[in-house]
Amino acid sequence: MKVTPSTYQLKDGRSAVIRQAQESDAEQMLKMARQCASETRNLCSTESEYDLPVEAEMKWIIDRNGEGCLLQVVEVDGELKGNCMTYPQGGRLRVRHRCGVGIGLLKEIWGNGIGTLMMQNAIDFAKEYGYEQMELDVVSTNEAAVHLYEKLGFVRYGLQPHAFRYEDGSYADLLLMALDLR
Ligand SMILES: CC(C)(COP(=O)(O)OP(=O)(O)OC[C@H]1O[C@@H](n2cnc3c(N)ncnc32)[C@H](O)[C@@H]1OP(=O)(O)O)[C@@H](O)C(=O)NCCC(=O)NCCS
Repeated sequence: MKVTPSTYQLKDGRSAVIRQAQESDAEQMLKMARQCASETRNLCSTESEYDLPVEAEMKWIIDRNGEGCLLQVVEVDGELKGNCMTYPQGGRLRVRHRCGVGIGLLKEIWGNGIGTLMMQNAIDFAKEYGYEQMELDVVSTNEAAVHLYEKLGFVRYGLQPHAFRYEDGSYADLLLMALDLR
């Protein structure tokens, strides 16, 4: 177990459980990912890109819980409401000290502190595993996410222009951020 399951109370009184994902979450994970993609333009995947076979998602969950990885989910009333993944940036000797992190929650639970808790778990896991640097990119106008990352100590180190091209022909830049774990 890479993260101890923990329960938190949401502002509306419901209980949210943060735990490691398991293979049996695959069907719900796809449903949640489709909804998440439909609710925000701040993630790189679109809803239709999650029209995948459950078996493929099961394999992805197993892979995302492999060596140097942690896939967390948050569950409310038995339904998945978000995930947060930590993964190696590569296997080569000179990059093995770096990991990446990504998070996506359904709108109905935004602003409850769940993002902060899952990111803190990710950081704790990464430090314990021995990573020295955690990296992420975020749509430059995603103020809530940038605030959250800066609160946890991430610093800005660059801007990737025109990183997303949306269906309407507009673009978004990605802010590049890193956290020193040493
Ligand atoms: C970004 C995301 C993970 C944040 O999760 P969350 O559970 O809502 O975050 P928290 O409640 O822990 O913290 C949010 C913080 O942002 C702040 N915030 C909210 N809206 C804000 C805004 N417009 N501008 C600045 N800060 C804002 C909150 O006050 C809170 O800060 P505080 O802890 O100092 O009070 C969540 O909104 C999400 O999944 N969004 C959709 C997908 C996405 O954007 N993922 C990130 C891709 S890089």
